[in-house]
Amino acid sequence: MYHIALFASGAGSNAQKIIEYFKGHNQIKVALIVCNKPDAGVISIAEGAEIPVLPVEKEKFFRGNSYTDELKERGIGFIVLAGFLWKIPDALIKAFPGKIINIHPALLPNYGGKGMYGSKVHEAVIANKEKESGITIHYVDEQYDHGDIIFQAHVPVETSDSPQTLAQKIHRLEHAFYPKIVEETVLKKMN
Ligand code: GRF
Repeated sequence: MYHIALFASGAGSNAQKIIEYFKGHNQIKVALIVCNKPDAGVISIAEGAEIPVLPVEKEKFFRGNSYTDELKERGIGFIVLAGFLWKIPDALIKAFPGKIINIHPALLPNYGGKGMYGSKVHEAVIANKEKESGITIHYVDEQYDHGDIIFQAHVPVETSDSPQTLAQKIHRLEHAFYPKIVEETVLKKMN
């Protein structure tokens, strides 16, 4: 079994879809949830699925080995970010080269970078009267929202859309594609 860790700090709807997708998978197991918020929705999702949670705190995350030992001890070979807002430190990127991916709720390279997350992304897209938005799944490198793009899916932005309705459309796209793209990418990288 190839062990992957999900890093999530929010509601965890993407984490939930990924957990459901890999239940009973014959090669890939979601072995750990990494979370920096004790009250995050993802914690109860992890408990319900009987997946251990590794709580992380800022001081240790951004210094020294950034929990690399804890991840390696648990046999983690791949990291999937699903709503994890802290920047991934260089120590982790070096320890998991080409084995960390993220999902962003817009069409990168537009509407990415520090401070561009959650509803801020959709507000900016609508303020600029974009005709379309979408999702980007990409490798993680040393810069925010910057690594090589693995996959994008597009969705039209209607003049009647609000940041909330656009967020719902984007979430549906994320749920439809992220688990499958995680599977394809992990299978490619584990061999
Ligand atoms: C998603 O929209 C994802 O694109 C972004 O964070 C959000 C997480 O949502 N990186 P959820 O916690 O999975 O519901």
